[in-house]
Amino acid sequence: MVSVSQRLFRTKPAQQIVAEGGHGEGGELRRTMTLWQLTLFSVGATLGTGIFVILGQAVPKAGPAVVASFVLAAITALFSALSYAELAGTIPVSGSSYSYAYATLGELVAWVCGWCLMLEYAVSVAAVAVGWGEYLNHFLRDLFGWQLPDAITHSPGDQGGVINLTAILIVLLATWLLLRGASESATANAVFVLIKVAVLAFFCVVAFTAFESGNLTPFAPLGIAGITAAASQVFFSYIGFDAASTAGEEAKNPKRDLPLAIIFSLVIVTVIYVLVALAAVGAMPWQEFDPESTEASLALIADQATGSTWAGVIISFGAVIAIASVVLTVLYGQTRILFAMSRDGLIPKIFEKVDPRRQVPIANTLIVAAFVSVLAGFIPLGQLAEATSIGTLFAFAIVNVGVLVLRYTQPDLPRSFRTPFFPVTPILGVIFCILVMMGLAGVTWLAFGIWMVVGLLAYFLYGFRHSRLNRSVR
Ligand code: ALA
Repeated sequence: MVSVSQRLFRTKPAQQIVAEGGHGEGGELRRTMTLWQLTLFSVGATLGTGIFVILGQAVPKAGPAVVASFVLAAITALFSALSYAELAGTIPVSGSSYSYAYATLGELVAWVCGWCLMLEYAVSVAAVAVGWGEYLNHFLRDLFGWQLPDAITHSPGDQGGVINLTAILIVLLATWLLLRGASESATANAVFVLIKVAVLAFFCVVAFTAFESGNLTPFAPLGIAGITAAASQVFFSYIGFDAASTAGEEAKNPKRDLPLAIIFSLVIVTVIYVLVALAAVGAMPWQEFDPESTEASLALIADQATGSTWAGVIISFGAVIAIASVVLTVLYGQTRILFAMSRDGLIPKIFEKVDPRRQVPIANTLIVAAFVSVLAGFIPLGQLAEATSIGTLFAFAIVNVGVLVLRYTQPDLPRSFRTPFFPVTPILGVIFCILVMMGLAGVTWLAFGIWMVVGLLAYFLYGFRHSRLNRSVR
């Protein structure tokens, strides 16, 4: 008879996780995604609300040095990205850090990780969907001089809101695309990503025509403290580079392509962010940015640079597309994580049922969509975004620890990618995650604590008893 602690910390061998990959009780996922599609998939999950909204809000914290904040946040993300790349190449399945933790740190930590990923994925989809609704309205106003009523575009208690139907609308649209199959969604995502990169490039061109080097001096009026504070805020804009790690079982050549896709996507978004941030603070004096604004600051800058509204309309259209593709990709990621957890018996079986004809986990997708719609319809953006950050950072920290543990416990496991400067990189990864988490508000920590207590109750009442590993240890 095994003890409770042995059961809590039992690991699922990496080889077994890989061997089971792609199978649910009802069928298999299709292996269709190429390196190019995986990279765009991660870029699609990353490039969104952060650059379109949060850049503008972060400028007052750091001044023109917000550019350095983006670099600092990218370095923080890079340590964790290298760890993700190593584990994604070693254990290329759909569960992302949840599966990695299961192989390295045991079932309880894996559960905690999966529970955190619901903040990174489901809760962030809700946050991003709320942002999408705001941009849609802004676009309608700029183009037609008309906008949707507050009652259906804000959450209850927020500027006369009753239910945020615009946010729910984008969740339902993304759900419809996902139900049509992963391959089609990858193609749709690629088109979205190309459009938003083009729009950001367009922004850079317009803003650089109004570039005044005087706007960049003094470069860091609020000092190092300002740069780091803004870095914590813009870290949100990098969340999502790990999305390819949820598509491991739909990748054609996962061992080679997953690590590359994760690193390529981080490099691509970093270059874009630094250029956009530089263009923004070069075109408009930093004192004119409004920290409270949820309006399209990039559109505003473009309008000022051109002296009319046509450029702003194009930018706000781009934001609507950009944010839609984040919703699509991240929603997809959440369904695949639940798929992996269900296959392990930790959550009910309905999440792993794959429709044999469409090869899509239909019930899973619909349940996630319903959950996200409720959050998006009734909770304001700020609360959702903070919850996303804390859960993500916690999961990132676990991934870094996982790399350390797996190198020592299974040094000979075939690894298609090894993080350089081991063990310094994953250790720095953990430290940076903790530092950024410490910058989050007390109320966010409280919400996180409650979320974790609920998660642990769910584990002990259901997952602990139904875990498929029970079959092998009894
Ligand atoms: N990184 C994602 C965004 O900025 C969450 O929208």
